[in-house]
Amino acid sequence: MRKIVTFAVAVTAMASMMVGSAVSAADGAALFKAKTCWSCHGKDAKTPLMPFYPSLAGQNADYMYNQMVDIKSGARSNGQTAAMKGVMGLVNEAEMRTLADWLATLN
Ligand code: HEC
Repeated sequence: MRKIVTFAVAVTAMASMMVGSAVSAADGAALFKAKTCWSCHGKDAKTPLMPFYPSLAGQNADYMYNQMVDIKSGARSNGQTAAMKGVMGLVNEAEMRTLADWLATLN
């Protein structure tokens, strides 16, 4: 019995590790499409819908992550953030991290 429990725990741990890495590799690119980010920031993340919307490609990852967290929470509410805030309900912190890391790799 004890062996079975240990085995089950090991399998569960492995499965969650696999899911974890699949999500982070999976892709900022897929999230960027699925969560509608591209509609305002542009498919290449540097051709925004409006000239005064920010270009994200190649921006610093930690900076972008922090801005998303702050726009979502309302801590940042200047400029055009109202346009973006509604969308932030679609992403959790792990997804924001994945998006920020992926966006930073673009140029
Ligand atoms: C409805 C339009 C819209 C959508 C959809 C949208 N954004 Fe934004 N986003 C904006 C605007 C506008 C700003 C700039 C706000 C301001 O003027 O302060 C912004 C700001 C940002 C910033 C901060 C940039 C900086 O230089 O400070 C990041 C990062 C960002 N968006 C990422 C995303 C991601 C990732 C998604 C998808 C989950 C997304 N946005 C979806 C409109 C949008």
